[in-house]
Amino acid sequence: MPPITAAYPHARPRRLRQAPWARRMVRETTLTADDLIWPIFIIEGKDRSEPVQSMPGVERLTIDRAVRAAEDAAKLGISAIELFPYTEESLKTATCEEAWNPENLVNRATRAIKKAVPEIGVMLDVALDPYNLDGHDGLVIDGKVANDPSLECLVRQTLAQAEAGADILGPSDMMDGRVAAMRGALEGAGFHDVLIMSYAAKYASCFFSPFREAVGSGGALKGDKKTYQMDPGNSDEALRETAMDLAEGSDMVMVKPGLPYLDIIRRLKQEFACPVFAYNVSGEYSMIKAAAANGWLDGERAMMESLQCLKRAGCDGILTYFAPEAARALKA
Ligand code: PBG
Repeated sequence: MPPITAAYPHARPRRLRQAPWARRMVRETTLTADDLIWPIFIIEGKDRSEPVQSMPGVERLTIDRAVRAAEDAAKLGISAIELFPYTEESLKTATCEEAWNPENLVNRATRAIKKAVPEIGVMLDVALDPYNLDGHDGLVIDGKVANDPSLECLVRQTLAQAEAGADILGPSDMMDGRVAAMRGALEGAGFHDVLIMSYAAKYASCFFSPFREAVGSGGALKGDKKTYQMDPGNSDEALRETAMDLAEGSDMVMVKPGLPYLDIIRRLKQEFACPVFAYNVSGEYSMIKAAAANGWLDGERAMMESLQCLKRAGCDGILTYFAPEAARALKA
């Protein structure tokens, strides 16, 4: 009989980490391409793309190229893409009419993509920042972002986007009552199946600045968005916003940004047991790209770890500029 001794630990967590097969066998969270939504930027023109300086590897694409990008994304198994327009200055007005022009850039892009690649979901942002001169998500009246007049614009924008064939609408404006207004309009017009993924817990974050360069709203932004986006010090408020959005008819909710807000993702998932998404925003993307370009981090590993950790925190899916790169890495 070998001696039984307490000198050695009987419980050894390292046994489960001894080899790749064992680690795979007990891994709780696995990222797949199904989890990914890819945000892309659209510009006017034909067969052309331009780099976004502050987001290495990201380009603004003309509609024909966006169609090809959507085809590639579908082949990679990415579930959906979100389209953001780079709106020409001449189309921006204080009253934001371009937002509900059926022929605006994103509506044309949506039609082209849904026709060529019907198997991929198309999501559009509902907010006015691409269409006004102040860079704000709502209408600016007497120097303030005016809630209820903004809702009327958002409803018009919603209907034009649904008409264009968008599958998912993402209100990112943070006006009070927007989801109820949008849902009422969609139901009234017979768009019963259009999904709403509300930016429910959207924080007034500095991590959005590369995005604002990408859509050309950064230079324009007057002041900040703190009267409508949430205070980074708050967590209970995220529950309240989410409860309202779900009650108003949102099908899914989003936390934005992602990585600094993992606790919010976890709280929402636990509290509401509904589909929760994280937006791994432009600043989170650019930080990794910048560190990798300097040789300070292994960019691919930092990307995969970030996405996996967002999922571990509790989200069902992730909006990320890394989507094609991550999907390719998952296939390899
Ligand atoms: C606009 C909008 C923003 C983002 C998505 N929709 C910027 C903002 O609120 O100022 C940010 C996305 C990102 O940083 O990747 N309503």
